[in-house]
Amino acid sequence: MSKNRLSVEFAGLTFKNPFILSSAPPTMDARHILRAAKLGWGGAVMKTVTEEPTVDPRTRLGVLRKNGKAIGMNNIELLSRKPLTTWTEDWIPKIKQEAPEDFIFIASIMSGIEPEGWTALAETMSQTGADAIEINVSCPHGSPEKHMGAFIGQDPTLVEQVTRAARKGTDLPLLVKLTPNVTDIIPIANAAVKGGADAISAINTVESLIGIDIETATPLPIAYGIDTTEQMSTYGGFCGPAVKPIGLRFVSQIAKAHPNIPISGIGGIENWSSAIEYLMVGARTLQVCTAVMWHGFSIIKDMISGLTEFMERKGYESLDSIIGKALPKITSWTALTKLPPVVARIIAEKCTGCKECVIACADGGFVAIQMRDKIAVVKNDKCDGCGLCAIVCDYDAVEFVHIK
Ligand SMILES: Cc1cc2nc3c(=O)[nH]c(=O)nc-3n(C[C@H](O)[C@H](O)[C@H](O)COP(=O)(O)O)c2cc1C
Repeated sequence: MSKNRLSVEFAGLTFKNPFILSSAPPTMDARHILRAAKLGWGGAVMKTVTEEPTVDPRTRLGVLRKNGKAIGMNNIELLSRKPLTTWTEDWIPKIKQEAPEDFIFIASIMSGIEPEGWTALAETMSQTGADAIEINVSCPHGSPEKHMGAFIGQDPTLVEQVTRAARKGTDLPLLVKLTPNVTDIIPIANAAVKGGADAISAINTVESLIGIDIETATPLPIAYGIDTTEQMSTYGGFCGPAVKPIGLRFVSQIAKAHPNIPISGIGGIENWSSAIEYLMVGARTLQVCTAVMWHGFSIIKDMISGLTEFMERKGYESLDSIIGKALPKITSWTALTKLPPVVARIIAEKCTGCKECVIACADGGFVAIQMRDKIAVVKNDKCDGCGLCAIVCDYDAVEFVHIK
């Protein structure tokens, strides 16, 4: 396999591999970014800066667990803690000097509804040696209260205006990072393109309330009110493996509407296989936050080797032959036929006799599964082929077969 099979062209830039750190705590300063760069990441988007440094509440991260395992996270954190000048005078020059030459550094900026702020920030970032600029119109918490972030990103007119304003300030590739907190992302993507975006990043976090501590009736993550004693919280941004279906939806919709605009896919990418899912729905690069926060920068090694081995096994010569490969198979509901008829079949060797599928099918399905000799068995004439039994089976003991 040639060495550069993972390289990809994106908005005029060449990434040595598609894996980028998204704008988040792992890109909070030069030290973090340089460590990632040296471990082989293709690039990084710095933690977003705005005109004023952020002061964050504590605590600010909450978790969603399933059987003890974290599957999603929410945060009420805002933007960079350090002033713009720390980035422009100290950290970005250091990163550009010390990172491998082929490491792509993307500056991330946020301003308000006045276009001048975007132009000024884009101009400033263009003079730092950054390779590209991502504009953040998508942070769902805190920022919207100040008419920033997702407040802008939910309004096509504002998205077009601020994209155009940032465009005015830079000749660098311009990425617009979109929010999933909209009913229809296409008018927003159209506005970004009309305003001069070279690429789209999607998605930022999903607005959420992660949970309630039921012992104290306190929303999570627990932070403190202004008086510093009363425990309170606020709506945050949800991310991690649990948001992958939402990210895949938006990326695929944007890719279908704008086949010529490169997309940086984000949302729940945790390993090489979830990365491939994003490539297959049209993403050209892949941004990762939660998986790095949970498992560290070194996950890049498995991501690269897993993607490479997959490409070898399947005979894919380049990422271009994977990108968008699933898109033609995403159609409308109306375009799906009821035929051919498919029914469930329990693979006897894998069935443990736990009865989960029997219970689910009895109460949530078509009463089509019975126990016979301690093994679940499907009655073909009752089975509707809905797929519920496979969802509740922890042993991968269900397959679907065509019947005549
Ligand atoms: C703690 C935290 C801080 C974040 N800060 C930013 C930010 O400053 N700018 C930004 O564009 N996105 C920010 N994000 C969003 C991530 O870049 C990313 O879009 C989101 O987490 C989805 O990716 P993931 O599922 O891989 O985490 C932040 C996410 C987290 C968890």
